[in-house]
Amino acid sequence: MALPAGFSEIFLDEVDSTNEEAWRRVAAGAGHGTVIRAGAQTAGRGRMGRGWVSPEGNLYMSIIVVPPPPRLAAQLAFVAALGVGDALTSLLPDAVSLRFKWPNDVQLVGRKAAGILVEGRGGPVHVVGIGVNVATAPNLADAPATSLTAQGARDAAPGPLAGDICTHFAGWFERWRADGFGPLREAWLARAVGLGKPVEARLPTGTLTGIFRDLDTDGALLLEEPGGATRRIEAGDVFLTSAGRG
Ligand code: BTN
Repeated sequence: MALPAGFSEIFLDEVDSTNEEAWRRVAAGAGHGTVIRAGAQTAGRGRMGRGWVSPEGNLYMSIIVVPPPPRLAAQLAFVAALGVGDALTSLLPDAVSLRFKWPNDVQLVGRKAAGILVEGRGGPVHVVGIGVNVATAPNLADAPATSLTAQGARDAAPGPLAGDICTHFAGWFERWRADGFGPLREAWLARAVGLGKPVEARLPTGTLTGIFRDLDTDGALLLEEPGGATRRIEAGDVFLTSAGRG
């Protein structure tokens, strides 16, 4: 597997969570560019305290990263989403639409194909966890999913895909370091699900509805509420309402 300069991979057949393993490796001295990849996870975790179903055949990887100052971890998730998006695009038939769903899902034909979980623990080091449905997709009632195989991806296999994702991640990371968040924000918005449409934002504190107007300069979602006020949303899930789908 080809990895970009400065990256190295540790592969494990099975682990509880590659993010958790990455933190263990950080404690043991691993640094920026170390990638932990596993064939399967027994306790894969997702955003908002959810789990991540992790059978063999899909991709589970975590990249240890030290973001550039001012270390805006929320932006790191967009670096990862763009990297995953580029890597998947090169495998998929042109007819398969790839879109980004705030904050950091990658969708194919309107179904989730990849998820990203960025974790920090108070210091400069962050762990960027990436899960891609390569061979199979979980059957989840509230979040329709798909896999690369189901969408006709050519030669999709977790190992080579991990290398491609690292290459594109490294490219976007360098762009972010050199030019800031602006170019990433634009690239992400160009493929955003629901921009300008009515959405429902499910937050840890409750549900809001409004129009998805923009991404803030730090990656927060800007929601225009029915009264016209703009609300910044930093954490939650966003769904197109039936009006937005129509
Ligand atoms: C989401 O909820 O959409 C984020 C899912 C992130 C899953 C990946 S799989 C590899 C890494 N290890 C984990 O335990 N989680 C992330």
